Amino acid sequence: MLIASLSDIHTDFEENRDVVVKLAAHIHREKADVVIVAGDVSHKNDRINRALRALKEAVKIVAYIPGNHDLWFDVPYAAERPDLDTWRRYHVELKEVCEAAGAHYLPASPLVLGELAIVGSCGWYDYSLAPEWLRASLTPETLQAKQYGGVMWSDARFIAFRDAAGNIMRDPEVARRMEAELREHLARMDADESVKRVVAVTHHQPFYEVVERTGTLPWEFFNAFMGSTGLGEAIQSAAKVTTAIYGHTHVVREHQVGNLRVYGTPLGYPRERKGLSLEEIVASRIGWIRA
Ligand SMILES: [Fe+2]
Repeated sequence: MLIASLSDIHTDFEENRDVVVKLAAHIHREKADVVIVAGDVSHKNDRINRALRALKEAVKIVAYIPGNHDLWFDVPYAAERPDLDTWRRYHVELKEVCEAAGAHYLPASPLVLGELAIVGSCGWYDYSLAPEWLRASLTPETLQAKQYGGVMWSDARFIAFRDAAGNIMRDPEVARRMEAELREHLARMDADESVKRVVAVTHHQPFYEVVERTGTLPWEFFNAFMGSTGLGEAIQSAAKVTTAIYGHTHVVREHQVGNLRVYGTPLGYPRERKGLSLEEIVASRIGWIRA
């Protein structure tokens, strides 16, 4: 079986929409069986639907997890709107958008393909991927506010995860719930004797060592919002995972973490690919797994 993976295709950019058509054509030519989309397509439902449909024309099976951008509400400040809950967008709305395109929604259930299973979660961040020296100097309130030197991490405006009482949840609480959902899916695959190998997909990054480091600010401040080490602990505690795919960062890289192959092949923003030919983009922005 041949699996292709994409992430951060950000189809709000017209240039990216054109590139996605080329990526889909290449994936079709290579005769892939599955495409995994590891989040950050668009905050607009019709754009998500169209991207998944375009990929569905290239392969039989498309599996999707939302990224933080896909979860955004297009309003000035989502937390002030009690009618908006990002959990509902994650568990209900985006599932409907995904399934309407004929794709498999990984946060709802693992995708079992014979002996191989694909398990996924958006994941969230709990600041554990920021360096220790930085965390030691900041309060949880500063991190929750997501603002540094006049620059705000946009999730602060457009995300509103609520608890059962309707109160806004703190980021570490959101991360714990995402990790618990992933653990539950992984445990189900460990218990399924017909499943031999598992590919784990998270939009947010699961390991400290996969995060791009500059050692400088503000970069390291914003690394607080890259993911959580708890995602990686969940993945490593599962017996059958061979490969972990992440999105979110726009840095293309592959790592070995313990016995795991871990990688990200984000398309990212057009300005981040200046100087790259279309051939170079097609060659570097698709992840491949032969399983
Ligand atoms: Fe993201």
